Amino acid sequence: MAKIIWISDIQSGLYTDKNIELKGWIKRHRSSGKIVFMTIRDSTGEIQCVAKKAEILESEFGEIKNALIESSIILNGLVKSDERAPGGHELSITSVKIIGPVHPKNPFPITESAMEHSEGGETEFLLDNRHLYLRTKKMTTMLKIRSTVFGSIHSYFRNLDFIEYQAPSFVAGAVEGGSTLFEVPYFGKKAYLTQSWQLYAEAAMPALEKLYTIAPSFRAEKSRTRRHLTEFWHAEMEIAWGGNNEVMNHGESLVRHIAKTILDERTEELNILGRDLELISTYADSKYPRMRYDEAVETLQKLNVEIEWGQDLDYSKEKILTQDFDVPHFLTHYPKIAKPFYHRPDPDDEKYVLCHDLLAPEGYGEIIGGGERTWSEKEILERIDEEGTPREPYEFYIDIRRFGGVPHGGFGMGVERVCSWLSGAEHIREVIPFPRDSRRVTP
Ligand code: 4AD
Ligand code: MG
Repeated sequence: MAKIIWISDIQSGLYTDKNIELKGWIKRHRSSGKIVFMTIRDSTGEIQCVAKKAEILESEFGEIKNALIESSIILNGLVKSDERAPGGHELSITSVKIIGPVHPKNPFPITESAMEHSEGGETEFLLDNRHLYLRTKKMTTMLKIRSTVFGSIHSYFRNLDFIEYQAPSFVAGAVEGGSTLFEVPYFGKKAYLTQSWQLYAEAAMPALEKLYTIAPSFRAEKSRTRRHLTEFWHAEMEIAWGGNNEVMNHGESLVRHIAKTILDERTEELNILGRDLELISTYADSKYPRMRYDEAVETLQKLNVEIEWGQDLDYSKEKILTQDFDVPHFLTHYPKIAKPFYHRPDPDDEKYVLCHDLLAPEGYGEIIGGGERTWSEKEILERIDEEGTPREPYEFYIDIRRFGGVPHGGFGMGVERVCSWLSGAEHIREVIPFPRDSRRVTP
């Protein structure tokens, strides 16, 4: 039952004037008494197919005359090159079999008019029908770009001999602050869903020295914004013997590599989305400037944005800051009070930590957060106590410092944030198959 012929290959001329068998789904359908026009889609593209009553078995013509959208189908026919047909080719059907018919009592629910009339509005309607919405061009395009982004993250790290390493998803403590922890009942105790792989990566840092992962992270984000999910895919790396600058160099090279890879491999998809390829090519080729937090605050204050020194930059501020950037920018040296305990205080001025966020242009804002870690036992105990965090869940983390601590650092990159930005999405939910937020865990 294997499938051998793909629509993209037909459209590229591989089968012109040949008889073929095609498997796919009906995307559009129109019929008169004597002729049926169908657009058939598969995962690679679409093609116009025509069946004439006089040319195929009467029973088969009867079967497809009233076939409904999204029925699955196997067709045999002759491929013809035809300039008028979308994609340049048309299939002239010689025989046909409906495999999974859609029943007239229960037609495919995603239609223009259903979207218009749905009570909760178009967005909610499409989220309710996400399992079916995945088949639309918009979603398949996004999912292909997403797949390429994942592949390029793996290739970046593997080309540099990083070891892929996995951390647990059930954990006992926070990395990124208690307010976004998901609590899970755990056999009479409490556990949490991981916010980041980092602390467990630090444990493996003396063993593997260069490591990375791509895994889900969880954050109980109550507010629904265009860049927050409660479950997102997190690409993280950790290196021994590296400081803030080296970690930033990797962040910069990784993002450039991702931009270059989608430009090379997903040109068609970027065109479908109307993305400016020049822009992506600038992201792939440019140096990403580095500026200190203080400079960003000054810039914002000059723009009359209300911000006080010491505050973390939330989305509204990053948006303003990055609207006029033409390439991603690093912000470094945030105030210690704005960042979690693991960030290493700057030996030159302990008010600041040796950290960075990478902000994407076009108003997208933070896509990477990382930096150098507090790596001596004395300093980490001070930082934990200063924050008022209990030591107990972090004993394993403190041990890393007790037994041969070395300078090290790493970063975390939100894969959906990167996909959103590079594909020019309006909202982060467009780039993940089943988006999770505070109001939705279905379908
Ligand atoms: O800046 P964050 O919180 O940093 C960390 O988790 C570090 N422990 C990572 C590390 O050093 N290994 O998160 C890292 C990135 C953010 O820059 C953002 O891109 C993404 O993760 N992110 C989210 N993406 C989608 N939805 C959310 N709710 C996100 N929260 C963070
Ligand atoms: Mg952050």
